[in-house]
Amino acid sequence: MQKYPTPDSEDFPANTSENEHFQLVVERAYSRRGFLKSGIGLSAAVFLAGPLAVHARSGGGDRDAPPSPLLGFSAIPASTDDTIKIAPGYTATVFAPWGTPLFPDAPAWKADGGDDAAAQARQAGDNHDGIHFFAINGSSTEGLLVINHEYTTAEGGDYIWLFGAQGGKPWTADKAAKAMNAHGVSVIHIARDSAGKWKIRLDSRYNRRITASTEMDLTGPAASHDLLKTRSDPGGTRVLGTLNNCGNGWTPWNTYLACEENFNNYFGTTSGTDSRNAAQKRYGLSAKSTDYRWEEFVERFDYAREPNESNRFGWIVEIDPFDPSSTPKKRTALGRIKHENAACALSADKRIVVYMGDDQRDDYIYKFISEGAHQEGGDNSTLLDAGKLYVAKFMDGKASGGFMGVGEWIVLDKKENATLAADAGFATQADILIHTRLAADAVGATKMDRPEWVSVHPVSGEVYITLTNNDNRAAPDAANPRTANIYGQIVRWREAGGDAAATTFEWDIFVLAGNPIKYTDRNNLKSGSANITADNTFNSPDGVAFDKAGRLWIQTDGKYSNSGEYTGQGNNQMLCADPVSKEIRRFLVGPRECEVTGITFTPDSTTMFINIQHPGEEGDSHWPGGGGSVPRSSTVIITKDDGGVIGS
Ligand code: FEO
Ligand code: CA
Ligand code: CA
Repeated sequence: MQKYPTPDSEDFPANTSENEHFQLVVERAYSRRGFLKSGIGLSAAVFLAGPLAVHARSGGGDRDAPPSPLLGFSAIPASTDDTIKIAPGYTATVFAPWGTPLFPDAPAWKADGGDDAAAQARQAGDNHDGIHFFAINGSSTEGLLVINHEYTTAEGGDYIWLFGAQGGKPWTADKAAKAMNAHGVSVIHIARDSAGKWKIRLDSRYNRRITASTEMDLTGPAASHDLLKTRSDPGGTRVLGTLNNCGNGWTPWNTYLACEENFNNYFGTTSGTDSRNAAQKRYGLSAKSTDYRWEEFVERFDYAREPNESNRFGWIVEIDPFDPSSTPKKRTALGRIKHENAACALSADKRIVVYMGDDQRDDYIYKFISEGAHQEGGDNSTLLDAGKLYVAKFMDGKASGGFMGVGEWIVLDKKENATLAADAGFATQADILIHTRLAADAVGATKMDRPEWVSVHPVSGEVYITLTNNDNRAAPDAANPRTANIYGQIVRWREAGGDAAATTFEWDIFVLAGNPIKYTDRNNLKSGSANITADNTFNSPDGVAFDKAGRLWIQTDGKYSNSGEYTGQGNNQMLCADPVSKEIRRFLVGPRECEVTGITFTPDSTTMFINIQHPGEEGDSHWPGGGGSVPRSSTVIITKDDGGVIGS
């Protein structure tokens, strides 16, 4: 979520704990290897050139090495055009943009923003983000496409596109309801027609809109806790809606995980007084009014009038796309943070492990391990309701195989963790789950530079996470190799014994993004690690996902000025990396002022679905309609012209 036009709320740290920051750990890892004797910039860069050396076709790296066998496409240059650019031999097709009718009775989208709340509830929502293709009976030509609609672009009470030129004025109850209906999730039955073209099955019983008003259950250890009770739900188990669904996940039993990220931005007060408590501040609720202005018409979004409502957001929501009458479940066992995405793996003994990042500067990385084992073909409907939640601590101990350090998973459990057992601030496990950030503060988790998406390698089980940026880092010193981590990085780790349920791991930096066009001295860390070249330079990695063959797809949500520190990087983009050779190639560039996000494939990997979010968030795009049309977030379908595997 790159938010128009002020900085992301995630850029403001809400973490006032004394916990150590990841960059300090990285720096000590450099020092331990003795590379700092002749000056920090040079030595750290030399260190990075070692384990991160790359077999690149062009730019840096070893020019004599063979090209990556995994990456079969030709890289494309950066672009500032208001269109999608894609590798030769591939086609990108716009699909289900904001406002697309999803039911036979849904009205056609009105380009002047004139659709009302009822129309929006029958159309695709706004700002597409996480996405997953659920094949029907294993098909690669028919399935359910499930899409998150993270938010709708608003600033200071003005809506940028949702209501057309009037921008939401005058503000009314129906407009607030329309904005709420532009949020949530779409389930869309799609199939290829006889010409091979993907189409929406409008008459399908599976099509569904989930919005900020859809009834859902709170389940797991925190359900029914006093902090989850409200006047309209005295039992603390039933909540209306899901908010700010950013990244996503999917389970081995074919359910969808929608992740609630910046829910805090929806809660403010009309009282004119900042009466937030410490936990509401730690989660970043708005002190007074919100950009969205829902609190003016819907009382539960006024934290002074319904103080517990915000505790009912910030969860991972499990949705069964194959049962359109099912009630989505907010799984409290997985903790309450600003959830980016959720990447599932199975442990050696078949328990489900869910990796999760909390996207805020200086916040943490988590994993959940279920109590029960996954039953192939059996009932897994309560698997995410019981288990243990852990938070990551990165350390600078000796690691094997060129990795940089070691780490441990600290259990956030009232009985097993001595610190939490002794802390009266957490009376029960439910308190730990509702105030997960505070519990992680208390146990000494490592502060990270805005954790975004996580993905697990399909064979090795190694886990990769994007740390998108931290552009306010202070001046360089011995402990901080880059003045401002404006470009971001991808960190990876491998669990002890290759078991996702292990409580220790070894970690490494896979790529330090940078700009060798601006910083031509490759000893300057701002030029990036050795697998960054003038041909693939990018900033702010965000979406990340492995395909079946082990290609790592990287999407960006960063600065698109194409000037200064970002010169030559162009619009936001999608790249593809070989995790073994570490080569990275640019595959696609989005239109102006968008971010590229969400990745999923058909089972045969011949169709890829991604999302273009918030094109023209500062007013400079007419994608995809062109001419003078308003820009629209949209899914994009990618196919290879010869029908082959994407990326091959
Ligand atoms: Fe919704 Fe952290 O991106
Ligand atoms: Ca982002
Ligand atoms: Ca993101």
